[in-house]
Amino acid sequence: MAGLKALGGTSDILPDEAAAWQALEEKARRVLRRYGYQEIRTPLIEEAAVFTRSLGEAAEIVTKQMYLFEDRGGRSVALRPEGTASVVRAFIEHGLDRTASVSRFYYAGPMFRAERPQAGRRRQFHQLGVEVFGSASPYQDVEVLCLLRRLLEGWGLSGWALKVNSLGCREDRRRMVDQVRRQMSPHRAKLCHDCQERLEKNPLRILDCKEKGCIQLSQAVDLLESVCPTCREHFEQVTRTLQALQVPFQRDAHLVRGLEYYTRTAFEVIHSGLGAHNALGGGGRYDDLVEQMGGAAVPATGFAVGLERVLLALESEQGKPPAARPWDAFVATVSPAQIGEALALAESLRQEEVRVFANVEDRPLRRQLEQASKWMPDGFVFILGEEEVAKGIVTVRNLSTGKQEQVRHSELARWIKGR
Ligand code: HAM
Repeated sequence: MAGLKALGGTSDILPDEAAAWQALEEKARRVLRRYGYQEIRTPLIEEAAVFTRSLGEAAEIVTKQMYLFEDRGGRSVALRPEGTASVVRAFIEHGLDRTASVSRFYYAGPMFRAERPQAGRRRQFHQLGVEVFGSASPYQDVEVLCLLRRLLEGWGLSGWALKVNSLGCREDRRRMVDQVRRQMSPHRAKLCHDCQERLEKNPLRILDCKEKGCIQLSQAVDLLESVCPTCREHFEQVTRTLQALQVPFQRDAHLVRGLEYYTRTAFEVIHSGLGAHNALGGGGRYDDLVEQMGGAAVPATGFAVGLERVLLALESEQGKPPAARPWDAFVATVSPAQIGEALALAESLRQEEVRVFANVEDRPLRRQLEQASKWMPDGFVFILGEEEVAKGIVTVRNLSTGKQEQVRHSELARWIKGR
């Protein structure tokens, strides 16, 4: 069977890269713990209605990008294109919407969107997201943004910018759609082909188009004009508090989001090192979604960050990280007679948290040393021959200097940890 490959837009994360992924997740968990978020893991596939009912029937993510199929039982199922809808489904299903307290969840895992693959745009990609239920306060929006800042800082990123806007309440949104239609219709011919279509179906998305002509026309739109006084005050409170807490941000009166569930505060983080798809993450408030999906009227807010893009941004700032070495030492044998001893020694060292590779093949010592030098040029080889076994010692070879010394088995773990 020739030429089997991963599907376009999906990637293998090979061991050399996996270390960077693990580091991202570990750093994120450390920050999330400080804010009291708990992990939630939802299935990768859901009944399609979970997404069609929440993200908006007209949203491109539903109409063009969702992996949608009929399963063997004839049910319409989808691979999750994002995490919020699944978390809301779980929140309602397990009755968490009926408890009074604020609930804070985070998730990390793959999402699927059938987009044209490009740098920073994958068909299977990974998000780290958070969702907070039970608070309508503008201060909650700010706290979520503080968390986002700490995550980005924790990963060591600096070249990012946070943009915030208000999308108002449901009535405001209707006014916004009218506003954009009214402002754009006279210039219809200057819009790109997709945006001419959006003018009928989903005018707000025009503000998100990357075509030059559409960007120019969007500059004249100030969505805050359509926001009611109550939602406007919510937004002012958010921006005042962000300033007071010294969270760097810019107001962006054209910012819209690709998903339709947002109300009031909406935001995006972009990064200068990312090129065309420069959004590292995005999110906002979605006060109507829980009720719309069949739960109680519970306000909520959250965001998700694209981890592939975080790694690309880190690489643009710091270069590729060096590949991590999985071993501290290599146990080599002079002849096959010592392989059993080598395994026993490796086992006892591993019990003491030393990371060791043990030779298990019948091959000359010279070849083992070559292999060890390739894997760990500045590492150590523990050589076991007949004499070493008889005396309960090993000959330790320092691969960078070529120097050798003898160390007792019982001392070996302490010896290597001291290096
Ligand atoms: P989103 O803006 O659709 O929001 O996605 C969040 C992030 O996921 C993007 O900023 C980007 O970094 C990454 N991303 C999206 N699509 C792709 C792709 N095809 N390839 C690589 N990365 C991608 C949401 O998904 C919302 N659920 C966020 C949210 C949570 N809002 C409230 N709570």
